[in-house]
Amino acid sequence: MSHSSSASQASPSPEPAPQPAPSCPFGQAEADPNLDFKGTTPYEDYVQAELLTHAQHLLSDDPGEMAFLVTTQVMELWFTVIVHEWHTAAQALRSEDLPTAMDALRRSTYELEALNAAWKPLARLTPAQFNAYRGALGEGSGFQSAMYRRLEFLLGEKSASMLVPHRGAPREYAELEKALHEPSLWDEVLRLLDRRGYAIPVSVLHRDPTLKYEPHPAVEAAWTEIYVGDPENELVRLGEALTDVAELVWRWRNDHLVATRRAMGAKMGTGGSSGVAWLEKRARKNVFPELWTARSHV
Ligand code: HEM
Repeated sequence: MSHSSSASQASPSPEPAPQPAPSCPFGQAEADPNLDFKGTTPYEDYVQAELLTHAQHLLSDDPGEMAFLVTTQVMELWFTVIVHEWHTAAQALRSEDLPTAMDALRRSTYELEALNAAWKPLARLTPAQFNAYRGALGEGSGFQSAMYRRLEFLLGEKSASMLVPHRGAPREYAELEKALHEPSLWDEVLRLLDRRGYAIPVSVLHRDPTLKYEPHPAVEAAWTEIYVGDPENELVRLGEALTDVAELVWRWRNDHLVATRRAMGAKMGTGGSSGVAWLEKRARKNVFPELWTARSHV
């Protein structure tokens, strides 16, 4: 017998309050769902499912192309969420709101894991399977993803030339241009360290935000100092959350590289690059470099 039922035998409780029906955010439970809506359903108005599920304009008759396209679209959506999280984190760091920044970074690690899991349908494409629709892609390449570029910009991988492919898309171009000129998430982290008394050089704090971030020995020294100090320091927790982000981004790049190597070997990319050789170079870059190099000195 449970504790609560024996307690109710000892002193009968008043009429139990009606329990709220367990509810689904999009409908009522324990009664048949509403069927009658004046226009589109509230679900549709919120989720835009029709738009999402009719945005698959296939370019070939190959039955495998659908998985390629939808995986790419799913990844675009995850890029969008992750950019949102890192933007939230950067703004929160600027206003010294560490709990909000940590929450956003933590959520982004779960989202990065979901993003990386999305490789599954493409991870084992054979060259023959990929060739069945590769030609139909023309010059199209993930390299032209504006949202991925914003994600890289937030990590400090800035480059004005990456705006060039988006000249024909005013909204994407404007968003990318804004992101190019804004401090990256890493810039905001270093400004926070400066405000906490760590010796971050002025040249780093006032660097041109449109240029790619270059690692600096003083930043490595600051992280070393943080990591040798009190393990309960909130900056250690921040460093670890950022290291999780860095590792998961690196995993995405590597999973992409391996999927590409399996699907097309050393052929040139549809975007015009040398393909795997170019991706190998990209995957070698360390995200938040000093968070990795500082570990050798702790
Ligand atoms: C097996 C399927 C895939 C192959 C063979 C492949 C191949 C390539 C290649 C060769 C490049 C280098 C640029 C070029 O010349 O095209 C590239 C870049 C890129 N791809 Fe893929 N890709 C695949 C799937 C995807 C998917 C599903 C996405 C999701 C959006 C994606 C996103 C990207 C991004 C963002 C870049 C630029 C990376 C950077 O700037 O560092 N790729 N891909």
